[in-house]
Amino acid sequence: MEFSAASAHRGLVPWLGLLLTGFLLAFWIPPTTARFTLDSINAAEGQDVILRASNMPPGVAGFMWYRGLEIKFSNLIGIIAWQLSRQITGPKYTGREIAKLDGSLIIKNVTPRDIGMYFVVAILPKSREVAFGRLNVYRPLSVPTLLASNTTVTENEDAVVMTCYTDVYSINWLFNATSMQLGERMKLSQDHRTLTIDPVRREDAGYYQCQVFDPISSIESAPVELDVKY
Ligand SMILES: *[C@@H]1O[C@H](CO)[C@@H](O)[C@H](O)[C@H]1NC(C)=O
Ligand SMILES: *[C@@H]1O[C@H](CO)[C@@H](O)[C@H](O)[C@H]1NC(C)=O
Repeated sequence: MEFSAASAHRGLVPWLGLLLTGFLLAFWIPPTTARFTLDSINAAEGQDVILRASNMPPGVAGFMWYRGLEIKFSNLIGIIAWQLSRQITGPKYTGREIAKLDGSLIIKNVTPRDIGMYFVVAILPKSREVAFGRLNVYRPLSVPTLLASNTTVTENEDAVVMTCYTDVYSINWLFNATSMQLGERMKLSQDHRTLTIDPVRREDAGYYQCQVFDPISSIESAPVELDVKY
């Protein structure tokens, strides 16, 4: 704090400011000690995933892996340590988890039941360090169905309502296979499942699709062609 105030006062002498900045950077910003972390992962059902701990503290003797909201024995997946010839498994071991000495956990053929928080505890000579991350597993998306109230409409007379049938919450609309720009005459329902164009105009003629997505994939409905008479 005192140092930044000092550099502000010396703003009139830029080179000194620079010098101070260099000084601050070199000596006063504490080195951002890279924290022991576990990356969260989004995976597709059936994939093999690797949960990987990074910024390993020095002197690690092994790792304990847990699935659940707490680090407790009933959530233990397994323990791997240099002194062990093989991993020790715990109550949450399903036969698909492999803990490695590089701080990673391989989970084969993930299912939605594997979704949740994972904790990795690094075993150090005199302490422990904990990191946690989340695994999300997504089922393949089903193709949404798009239906229109009318596909042959008259310019400036008719309205058209298109409804996207899906159980997915994230929906995009496509017009002629590109992301739709909503004009003044167009309205999306709050849940994005219904698109109303009122009134239709000739430039609205073309192919409409709804697209559903999750963090790992997306899929579109079959196109509905809107024909506008004028
Ligand atoms: C669709 O719109 C056309 C043109 O305006 C109209 O003639 C027809 O009756 C409408 N069809 C339905 C099912 O509403
Ligand atoms: C959309 O596609 C239809 C059919 O190919 C075409 O007639 C129309 O001009 C296209 N509209 C825009 C705005 O690209």
